[in-house]
Amino acid sequence: MTFLLSSENVFEYLERNNIYTQVGGYLGQKEYKIALNFNIILSLPDNRTIIIKQECYGADGKTTGGFLNEWRIQEFLQKFPSLNHLYAFLPELIHFNEKHSIIIFNYLKEHCDLIDFYTKNNVFPPAIASAIGSSIAAFHRATLNHQEYRDFFSQRRPDAPVNGGIPYIIRKFDRINPEVFGQVPADGLKFFALYQRYESLRDAIAELTDTIVPYCLTHNDLKLNNILLHNNWQEILEEKSSKHSIVRLIDWERCSWGDPAFDIGMLVGSYLLLWLKSLVVSKSIDIEDSLRMAVTPLEHLQPSIAALVSAYFANFPEILEYCPTFLKRVMQFSGLALILHIQATLQHRKTFGNTGICILQVAKGLLCSPEQFMPTVFGSATSEIMGLQPAFT
Ligand SMILES: Nc1ncnc2c1ncn2[C@@H]1O[C@H](COP(=O)(O)OP(=O)(O)O)[C@@H](O)[C@H]1O
Ligand SMILES: [Mg+2]
Repeated sequence: MTFLLSSENVFEYLERNNIYTQVGGYLGQKEYKIALNFNIILSLPDNRTIIIKQECYGADGKTTGGFLNEWRIQEFLQKFPSLNHLYAFLPELIHFNEKHSIIIFNYLKEHCDLIDFYTKNNVFPPAIASAIGSSIAAFHRATLNHQEYRDFFSQRRPDAPVNGGIPYIIRKFDRINPEVFGQVPADGLKFFALYQRYESLRDAIAELTDTIVPYCLTHNDLKLNNILLHNNWQEILEEKSSKHSIVRLIDWERCSWGDPAFDIGMLVGSYLLLWLKSLVVSKSIDIEDSLRMAVTPLEHLQPSIAALVSAYFANFPEILEYCPTFLKRVMQFSGLALILHIQATLQHRKTFGNTGICILQVAKGLLCSPEQFMPTVFGSATSEIMGLQPAFT
């Protein structure tokens, strides 16, 4: 893989693009701390830290333009000042180089990755999930059915990559076929064989994706590892008057005009994966024991999932009337998120073991019997959540 910027030339690049002038001149390479490989993190002398994201070059010397959408969302807010309030939830852009596919953000030092916070502490304060629910509701609500905004996202440059939106994700998903698993014969085919057997699952996915009607701006990759949490989140929440959001939604590479239920479904799926990935599954352990031994029991996550959805509805009440089947779609999209996770694991790690089978079962339940699966997802808050949108189907 070839990248344009490395520790050798990154300083020169920053200087050439006037990113240094803001910090008082070139101070020499030694003064800067570099981390990661293709995402470069640099500590600058004025106490700022920046993160440089860059794409690798293909054999033809071209990138796929994967950051165009990250730039697009920033451009969108610049174009429509009435949406300024949404900046509070985004990373802070410093520089974008379309030709070489390089994007630079202010590195938010006072934040940590939400997924790291969860895995390190294994605690799930519902207040954090509420903040996520209200943040994404702010985007969906502010853009709901707005023709001008829709036009903005519909205008694609002819050479722009088709990497945004749910149709793109579904297309990727459609590529589940035996050839894909040519490289991963054993595990890939095991998954494919099971997936083929579940006709109801394939029908449910087809119905869900055929009924997608895009009507607001969506992130489309809203997993817990694309959310940053402020280190002082508790203090910020205690200050009732604080205007600060405790979370930032990052990695907008796939944003588009889309179906908001997909964003909430992805999040719900991401919480469920914390539980599913913590299960100890094997042929010699029965399911009851397996559930009992989960490092992250489902009951610890349910209050957060319920808080996420309640905060979303509280901040975007219009959605309840606008899309009467919203909750059902959220449940189903969370199942789709689990299948997309299996697919990604197969592609990157080439495995589909007992945990994969377990995840597929839960995905099937969510997609084929969303109503019956509500108690699994929301626990004791089920009736309260269902009461928010009585027209489930
Ligand atoms: N503005 C930022 N401030 C702090 N950390 C960031 C910021 N942007 C990205 N990161 C870190 O870098 C990781 C990768 O960035 P992300 O935008 O999600 O790109 P990708 O997942 O496509 O590599 C994030 O998970 C997070 O840990
Ligand atoms: Mg990411």
